[in-house]
Amino acid sequence: MIYSSNNSIRQILRARPMAVQILEEEFGQLIWDHQESTLVSLCTSRVIDVSDCLARIAKIPQSPPDTDWDNKPIYWLIDHLVRNHEAFREKEMPEIQSLLVEERLPAYPDGYIVKLLLQEYQHFQADFLKHMAEEEDFLFPKILRNEACLRYNALGPETHRGSVTVYLKSEAHQPEAEFKRMIISIREKLRNQHLDRPAAEIARKAETALDGFADRLLIHAELETNVLFPRVELLERKLYENHAPGRPRHTADK
Ligand SMILES: [Fe+2]
Ligand SMILES: [Fe+2]
Repeated sequence: MIYSSNNSIRQILRARPMAVQILEEEFGQLIWDHQESTLVSLCTSRVIDVSDCLARIAKIPQSPPDTDWDNKPIYWLIDHLVRNHEAFREKEMPEIQSLLVEERLPAYPDGYIVKLLLQEYQHFQADFLKHMAEEEDFLFPKILRNEACLRYNALGPETHRGSVTVYLKSEAHQPEAEFKRMIISIREKLRNQHLDRPAAEIARKAETALDGFADRLLIHAELETNVLFPRVELLERKLYENHAPGRPRHTADK
């Protein structure tokens, strides 16, 4: 979550979607019309103190996991999902990887087995990092803008790469499903092998860490599938219906 006054509005919203709140209070629709402008240039043009603005963004609290997401703007939930990604990327995944890197094992069979588990894990990790980057670079910014369109009548949705709903239907949640398959496969390998210490100890710790990660990943994937995506579909329908020729745009949305 590192950003500065020299970052563009797009970069700041990617890192901290909750900043929508403060930035719209300060600049209104301008932040959607000038996504590539830096925060400092927008602040200068409006004679706003950029360090005050950054400090206000930094003070926005993180939402607790039991937040009633259905009754908050969608950007609240996206901010929470981005915080999850950050924890996966910067803490949980490197920790699991470091458990599986062990130089002192006998080369065969224990060292060989642990190396295979590490390779399997790294394969998943690369796919999952790509999946999170795609959500943060493409999907989430598009959703934030669509939601803003209902607050600002004059703003149009981004049409690049089509509708979010169509994208969601074509992009199934493969990495999450793949991860579950990977845990089952690692478990089977462990069950079928007789590992000596310290490999047995490494395997046990890795299995516990993977279990915890899988639980958190499932909660995350369910929030996306069961809460975010249905709301996005509804939002998009509302947006495009109101855009139909001859129909007025409405502003009301939560
Ligand atoms: Fe995600
Ligand atoms: Fe996802």
